[in-house]
Amino acid sequence: MNSAAPHQPLLLSARGLRCGYGDVEVVHGIDLEVRAGEVVALLGPNGAGKTTTLSTISGLLPRLGGDVTIFGDAQSVGKRGGITNAALQLRESGLAYVPEDRALFFGLTGREHLRLAARRGDQGAIDAALAPFPALQAILDRKAGLLSGGEQQMLAVARALAARPKLIMIDELSLGLAPIVVEQLLPLMRDICREQNVGVVLVEQHVNAALEAADRAYVMVRGQISLADSADVLLRDAAALASAYLG
Ligand SMILES: Nc1ncnc2c1ncn2[C@@H]1O[C@H](COP(=O)(O)OP(=O)(O)O)[C@@H](O)[C@H]1O
Ligand SMILES: [Mg+2]
Repeated sequence: MNSAAPHQPLLLSARGLRCGYGDVEVVHGIDLEVRAGEVVALLGPNGAGKTTTLSTISGLLPRLGGDVTIFGDAQSVGKRGGITNAALQLRESGLAYVPEDRALFFGLTGREHLRLAARRGDQGAIDAALAPFPALQAILDRKAGLLSGGEQQMLAVARALAARPKLIMIDELSLGLAPIVVEQLLPLMRDICREQNVGVVLVEQHVNAALEAADRAYVMVRGQISLADSADVLLRDAAALASAYLG
């Protein structure tokens, strides 16, 4: 548990956030908060609305309702669009989003990905982003399309870090990875977050591994938050967690 978190700046605050596709609402008014230096797990069954929530906060989907404040700025994007601009501006201001499909360019090398992500080619940021992933060093000149799933995952996270973000949102970091890699990557994300005072949102299917790495967690079911508590409490109370999953 990160006891410093309550005194840390609020990076993200969503109030009554409603998300969906066209007029079809799939997230029905949720509240979320992330402070600097804390890892927040967003858990819940398939189809709960986790990916939709992250995409909306990132500015890639229009918001259907509610308020979102990121780095102290109320986000103005609503139904009328301006989506691409909003996503770019958020990235500029320090929000990194690692989407479920990783969004890598298969024809570009790892090194090219990192150079594109770092501000003004900041080599120090690239080196710092690579430090947690020594295995990436040897394959930096390989095209991303030729990397294994785990290597692509690491590259996607390193690319996010290379922009020196204040808040990182990662959708299913462990998707397709061997359990042993998951057990290494999640604590690594927590260490990076603590050392750099970055906020992290982890959407995860590996519930226990996520809770062990997280400070707090939200459980989302059918577009609503069914439970929100410290990760410690949820780790100890498996029954509450299981019933939250049922909504
Ligand atoms: N592109 C889309 N168009 C319409 N509905 C979608 C789209 N993507 C997801 N949905 C629906 O939104 C709901 C939430 O999906 P999603 O956010 O992907 O859930 P999760 O990430 O928690 O598994 C699901 O009912 C899903 O079918
Ligand atoms: Mg998803």
